[in-house]
Amino acid sequence: MSGNLHAESRDKAVAGRTAYAILYNTSEVVTPDAEGVAVQRLPRGAVVFRDGRVLEIGPAAELHRRHPDARPLNAAGRLVTPGFVDAHTHMIFAGERSAELQRRLAGESYAAIAASGGGIVSTMAATAQERDDALEKTLAARLERWRAAGCTTVEVKSGYGLTPGAELRLLDLMRGAVQRVPGRVQRTALLLHALPPDWTGGREAYARAMADEVVPEIARRELAVAVDVFCDPVAFTPAECRVVLQRAKDAGLALKLHAEQFGRGGGVALAIEMGALSADHLESATEQDWRALGAAGVTGVLLPAAALTLRQSLPEAAMLRRAGARVAIATDFNPGTAPAQSLLECVALAARQCGFSAEECLLAVTWNAARALGLESNVGHLQPGAWGDAVVWECERLEELPYWMPAVRPDTVFIRGADLAFPTVERRVWP
Ligand code: NIG
Ligand code: FE
Repeated sequence: MSGNLHAESRDKAVAGRTAYAILYNTSEVVTPDAEGVAVQRLPRGAVVFRDGRVLEIGPAAELHRRHPDARPLNAAGRLVTPGFVDAHTHMIFAGERSAELQRRLAGESYAAIAASGGGIVSTMAATAQERDDALEKTLAARLERWRAAGCTTVEVKSGYGLTPGAELRLLDLMRGAVQRVPGRVQRTALLLHALPPDWTGGREAYARAMADEVVPEIARRELAVAVDVFCDPVAFTPAECRVVLQRAKDAGLALKLHAEQFGRGGGVALAIEMGALSADHLESATEQDWRALGAAGVTGVLLPAAALTLRQSLPEAAMLRRAGARVAIATDFNPGTAPAQSLLECVALAARQCGFSAEECLLAVTWNAARALGLESNVGHLQPGAWGDAVVWECERLEELPYWMPAVRPDTVFIRGADLAFPTVERRVWP
């Protein structure tokens, strides 16, 4: 199934002068091991990049001896990790909903705010009114912000279009923005998010329209590599979601689900039944659910910013260890439940809330996050053969990553073995 999965990044990302390079004088090179189970730590280790990929990692003296012609890149005694992977964002939208946060903090429920015209539908309206070029430019600027914070692979979902035509518009714009940034972007079509307010055909007809009209178009025009649905008591039923997911699976697309967020609605069972890459949110999931995910090999994606914003609790790390599931952490960046612009901040919060170790935190935003996107053979680690996506951090110890708040910043971000930014993206304050 993962044969057609690939994250896009521009081929020109390999700058000739850095195509063969050795990153040395690190405090430590830290990466998931070749199975993505444990964390491998190489004190004062080095990384050799060649033609955009990792050629070798190991002791610096040995690698210097073996690669005397590699261009030396001095890490100045700092920590090196794989580039981070943000496996769940809703980055393409216009407007902001700060007033809603105030209403929620004053006690109003998410459902009540949505029923009064707020929520997903209000972002749909703002996004519909925004010009194409502005949406594309804002998305590119956000992707550049994520890159500068150390995220070299980012998943972006559509989902604020809602009607078939508007979702296809967003997917088209996502394709445009992706071509303008150096990082890898995994495009997902979120096809059941909320019923469009002026939809008159009923819920079943809506699910059918998304399945029969939108999914084939996505597959035909390669507008996304995965399809997502919001399976929840406040959103769509497992039966409605199954219609869209089955069609997507038949079209060769990967599957993802928003599952068990507001209530326990059968999302985990459906993710397992359909062979999804990941089940995301899971604030209302039980230990049984996590065990089932573990047994089925479906990655569970935690979204700490959404849980905190909605004042829900996150699962205990000890329970997750017992359950044996793969756990990723992502921002869920969206204007309603997670206006969270830093993956590492989300990690620092989750470490404190759940009890994750620094090594578990690293796995959650590298290998496990790549696995939630089906990309772990190439991304989310620094094992030989992986893409040369790495970060030199402004700190020395792995344990500092979940420690500092605001988050530690990258000193240098490598994509395909080269230090790349996208300077023509206008830098501006969000939104
Ligand atoms: O992932 N759960 C559904 N969707 C988003 C929130 C959408 C919104 O409120 O705009 C989420 O949390
Ligand atoms: Fe989400």
